[in-house]
Amino acid sequence: MKVKIDRMDHQGRGISTLNDKVVFIPNTLPGEEVDIKITRENKKYSEAKVEEYITKSIDRIELDCPYYEICGGCHLRHISYENELKYKENKIHDIIKKFTSYDTKLIKPIISNDKEYYRNKVTFHVDKQLGFYNIKSKNIVEVDRCLLVDKNINEVIEEIKNINLDNVYEIVIRSSKNLKEKMLVLKLKEKENMEYLKEQLKSFNTIITYYNKKYEVVSGSGYIYDQIGDYTYKISPDSFFQVNTDGALKLYNKVLEYLKPTKTDDVLDLYCGTGTIGIHVSKYVKSVKGVEINKYAVIDANNNKEINKIKNIEFECLDAKDVMNVKDKFSKIIIDPPRSGLDKKTIEYIRNKNVESVVYVSCDPITFARDVELLKDKYELVELTPVDMFPRTYHCEIVAYLERIKNENKR
Ligand SMILES: C[S@@+](CC[C@H](N)C(=O)[O-])C[C@H]1O[C@@H](n2cnc3c(N)ncnc32)[C@H](O)[C@@H]1O
Repeated sequence: MKVKIDRMDHQGRGISTLNDKVVFIPNTLPGEEVDIKITRENKKYSEAKVEEYITKSIDRIELDCPYYEICGGCHLRHISYENELKYKENKIHDIIKKFTSYDTKLIKPIISNDKEYYRNKVTFHVDKQLGFYNIKSKNIVEVDRCLLVDKNINEVIEEIKNINLDNVYEIVIRSSKNLKEKMLVLKLKEKENMEYLKEQLKSFNTIITYYNKKYEVVSGSGYIYDQIGDYTYKISPDSFFQVNTDGALKLYNKVLEYLKPTKTDDVLDLYCGTGTIGIHVSKYVKSVKGVEINKYAVIDANNNKEINKIKNIEFECLDAKDVMNVKDKFSKIIIDPPRSGLDKKTIEYIRNKNVESVVYVSCDPITFARDVELLKDKYELVELTPVDMFPRTYHCEIVAYLERIKNENKR
């Protein structure tokens, strides 16, 4: 079936119509004519794959990764990085226009990052072969390298393939971009003592096995360290740590700029993870309180506080929806929620808190748009900067500055 691509959707796919139904087709660009095969049929839309390109867009570039069309880790390798940044800016403009009452003039130019080798963490699946899941099945696509993953990780893929992986179903490799340390986590089907790996895999600072929900250290300390800006962070096997280390510094510096910190500020860092944003801003403010649901992240956050000798930060393990139980007073709030955005109680808390400003870090522009609308009679969205934390994928982070409305009749 022949179709022409009209535009792109928010997941980097081309959109066309076939028999009055919308069709989403990955790896296609506006203006291209393609012969397609339907891969999934829904009531309201279909998904398809390209059988043949009849005409190609002048924006299409040569593919540089043999796994692109099967592994599903990247969505935009078929356009230049320059065009990818334009696509992401347009996407954020579209979402703000469609889902909020704000003018898109408040959106600043996107902050770019290195488009290759930026990820400090990778998960490989193992089943006879080592690689990523095929985008449409759970079959493993064997890989020798990945253009998104830190070069230090790519260098050890061959080494890992040479060990006996019969008892391993998943492998996680974490590397520290700035301190050049590497962690290997082997997830095991059966409990096994893997001491022998110490000799075989010397390039790892630490090797850890995982079986029956428990981590066991085979070699090294069980963690690695990395730096973001002036601070050092301890990374355990399951710590949340931004996967783009260089991008994280740019993101955190934007947060700092929007925070407009002063030495009298008491800041709430809500959804603080391992405390990285709070620590990053701590020297510019009077105090920071980090709130996070994951108790292991809070343990890491307290370690990070010690490592960096920070005195004016505290962490509390709490669900954000219970944040009203935190009795401290705050002048400013930073929020960095998961994709789902803010729940009703957290929105209510922020609405009633009467702080000067809110810095909202979001990895999902649609839930972000919903939340700023729910806050709009109390806080005005003043400025927003997209940050490309995940080049070659459709994902785009946002940092936004919201200011308390003094005269509530203003809007
Ligand atoms: C996008 S991460 C942000 C982490 C941190 N700000 C950083 O830059 O590394 C979101 C964090 O929110 C936490 N989280 C998820 N749901 C939560 C909830 N209901 N209450 C508090 N924290 C939550 C997650 O565990 C995760 O650490």
